[in-house]
Amino acid sequence: MKQVVWITGASSGIGAALVRQYCNSGHYVIATARSKEGLEKVISSCLHPENVKISIADLEKLDQLQQLVNNLWEIHKGIDTVILNAGIGQWGSVQDTKIEVENKIFNLNFWSPIQTIKFLLPKMQKKGFGRIICIGSISSEFGQRNLAAYSASKSALKIYMESLKEELYKSPIKVQIISPGIINTKIMSSALNAMGKRLNKVRKNQEKGMNPEKLAQKIYRFSKTRRFHKFFTGIEGLALPLHRISPKILYFLLRRRYAD
Ligand SMILES: NC(=O)c1ccc[n+]([C@@H]2O[C@H](COP(=O)([O-])OP(=O)(O)OC[C@H]3O[C@@H](n4cnc5c(N)ncnc54)[C@H](OP(=O)(O)O)[C@@H]3O)[C@@H](O)[C@H]2O)c1
Repeated sequence: MKQVVWITGASSGIGAALVRQYCNSGHYVIATARSKEGLEKVISSCLHPENVKISIADLEKLDQLQQLVNNLWEIHKGIDTVILNAGIGQWGSVQDTKIEVENKIFNLNFWSPIQTIKFLLPKMQKKGFGRIICIGSISSEFGQRNLAAYSASKSALKIYMESLKEELYKSPIKVQIISPGIINTKIMSSALNAMGKRLNKVRKNQEKGMNPEKLAQKIYRFSKTRRFHKFFTGIEGLALPLHRISPKILYFLLRRRYAD
């Protein structure tokens, strides 16, 4: 069945791949990001660009989210699925990173999806249908140097979504969270450093990550299931059992890998 799917962070990386995946599978898509140029490029790569609507918004502006949700809901008189994917990376130590930078990371990665959900939920409840999907991260599962605020924001998002899933147990609204491993996108080059400036560096292991188009296919398939959470990782997924069984070995390996 043709659905209306709202995807945030749609101008690049995972979000752009999701726009193509959903549009090419015959759905109506609303694609949100700040960059008009980026969004137009993504739309032009879709098989049915006429089915994609651009929405330019800065999702860090929490006080504008109610209006945004109202406006987007009106386009097709409803939103069946929302994929809250917009996010920002980090590379900076706890000691050096300004609290304003950490606030910015939490605003986009945690408060923005939460606030959006609060505005969408009553509309979805009234319609009697809805699917809310958040993009988390494998980083929510264990602490890593230079990623404290990022990992904490994704951990908070995961626990919050799990709580919401329980609250909606008997409701027609379904909630899911996806935790990708390393995906080959520009997340690290647009990540914030300790001073809140763009890192502008491509990390080698990022380029070896999973292709975002492949991830988008997996997310699309997963979104049709009733399951709440799924990791999609490459070899880095081994960190998860290792962290449970022997965190000592995991951190020994991570320290060697990221030795300055
Ligand atoms: N890549 C990975 O290895 C990886 C792994 C695990 C989880 N994730 C998560 O996956 C999601 C997508 O990341 P990605 O890898 O695709 O990174 P990306 O290529 O940097 O994409 C980030 C997207 O978020 C949008 N965005 C950033 N700030 C925004 C703001 N203030 N308002 C609205 N949109 C904003 C960007 O668009 P504009 O700049 O045009 O606004 C862009 O479309 C993030 O939540 C990230 O944490 C990524």
